[in-house]
This record gives sequence, structure tokens and C-alpha cells, in this order.
Amino acid sequence: MAVRSKVKIKKFSRAQVVFHWVYGSSWFLLMLTGMSFLWRPDPGAAAVGLGPLLQGTVGQSFRLVHRVAAIGLMASPLTWLVGDFRSLWPDLKELLRFGINDARYMLIAPLHYTFGKPALPPQGKYNGGHKVNFYVVVLTFIGFVSSGLLMWFGRGAVPDGTFHMAQIVHSTSFWLGAIMTALHIYLTAVHPFTRRALSAMTQGFVELNYAKAEHKVWVEKEIAAGTAVLVEEPGDC
Ligand code: HEM
Repeated sequence: MAVRSKVKIKKFSRAQVVFHWVYGSSWFLLMLTGMSFLWRPDPGAAAVGLGPLLQGTVGQSFRLVHRVAAIGLMASPLTWLVGDFRSLWPDLKELLRFGINDARYMLIAPLHYTFGKPALPPQGKYNGGHKVNFYVVVLTFIGFVSSGLLMWFGRGAVPDGTFHMAQIVHSTSFWLGAIMTALHIYLTAVHPFTRRALSAMTQGFVELNYAKAEHKVWVEKEIAAGTAVLVEEPGDC
């Protein structure tokens, strides 16, 4: 097999990659431990389903892991903030701008990723799907933190109705977040068209050819401005 060089372009800094994995691993621990809390008919009733997990030492350990992971999730933005402050505003500005091209992307993407056509509109560093994922992450983060802290410190101190409302906000965020996480993992690790994006979150770099196809507007802007960071490595492409 002929070995040619593979050119890659830098998409994320080390701090952004670290942020992604601290958030992601905290999220997974929270999801796994949190799921066991859902199988509780009511605190006084006999345990059913996974209910026994909530009893005794195992249940207490799950609660402890849930709280430690919650601190990890809440602190995770600091890794980006402290590690690469300069990229924060430009990236947030792009993520918060949802234009006609993003809406068209969202309409066409299901067809494109299933049948290979029609062509997607040219995208920036973040495509319409990344932006929608970001909005869900921010929304559920706010939902989890506000309701989680209330359940953590407010038990017995707030009216029952308020506590119950916090449980509803928490479990609604859970279902919304779980659906988005399943889609996110499918697209970044499984789908043949998009799984080449995964290296952006492991090495910080993606193949230039892939970036040109999926993020044309961003690549052209980086190259025109002279800010593109390109590396060449041996590959079998
Ligand atoms: C980030 C801040 C978070 C805090 C402070 C927090 C805190 C809590 C607390 C104190 C409880 C009550 C558990 C008990 O019975 O002792 C709880 C329940 C729960 N948590 Fe979290 N949590 C957070 C994030 C998450 C995340 C990210 C998920 C899922 C991915 C999650 C899933 C759940 C679920 C499903 C329950 C059961 C809700 C219910 O009873 O309806 N939590 N959480």
C-alpha cells in the first residue's frame, strides 16, 4: 500500500479537548448513577426494579459518586476558561449565531447522512448540528445545576412542591440530555461520514480533506487569514 502524507488542521486546543472529556466523563458517571435514582416509586415505598441499589451502602456510594461527579461537571468549564481563554469568545460567538445556513443544514443533514445527498450547505467551524447540541448542553447544564443543588442542599428546607419541581426539572434534563448524548456518540464514533471528526477531540486535529468538505467556510477563512495550523503526518490515504 502506497504511503502518502496526511495533512491535518488544528481545530481545538488542548484545553478545549480536556474540557470536553472532563465534562463527558462527569456526565457519564452522573447518568449511570442518576438512572438508579429514577427507579424509586417514592422514598417510603418498598424498593422495586433497581430500587434495591438505593438501599444501604451501595445506594449511599451511588449518591456520593453522583455528588463528586456533579462537582466535576460544574468545575469543567474552568479547564477551558483557564487553559485557553483566548478561544472562548470567538467560539462562543460562532456557536450563538444560528443563521439560515444552519437551518438549511438541519433540514438537509438527515437526508444527506442517510442517502449521501443532497449536498450540505458550506459550514463554519461549527455546523448547525454542533450548535443545536451546544444549546441542549447549555440548557440541560442550567437545569441540572439549579435543580441538583436545590435537591442537594434544600431537602427539608424548601416546600415539598418546590422540591418536587426540582426533581421534574432534573429528570426532564436527564431524558433530553440522554437522547442528545446517544445521537452525539452515534455521529462522532459510528456514522461513516462523520466519525472522522473524532480526532478533533482526541488530538485537536482533523484531516484537512475532511475539514474542507465539512467545514469549508472555516478552512477558507483560516487559510486566508494565515492562522491555519497544519501538520503533515504519514498516512495510508
Ligand atoms: C451537575 C450538577 C448535578 C447535581 C448537583 C446533581 C445532584 C443530584 C441530587 C442531589 C439528586 C438526588 C439524589 C438523591 O436521592 O440523593 C439527583 C438525582 C438525579 N440526578 Fe443529578 N445532579 C447533577 C447532574 C446530573 C446529571 C448530569 C445527570 C444525568 C446525566 C443527573 C441525573 C440524575 C437523575 C436521573 C436523578 C433522579 C431524579 C429524580 O429523582 O427524579 N444528575 N441529582
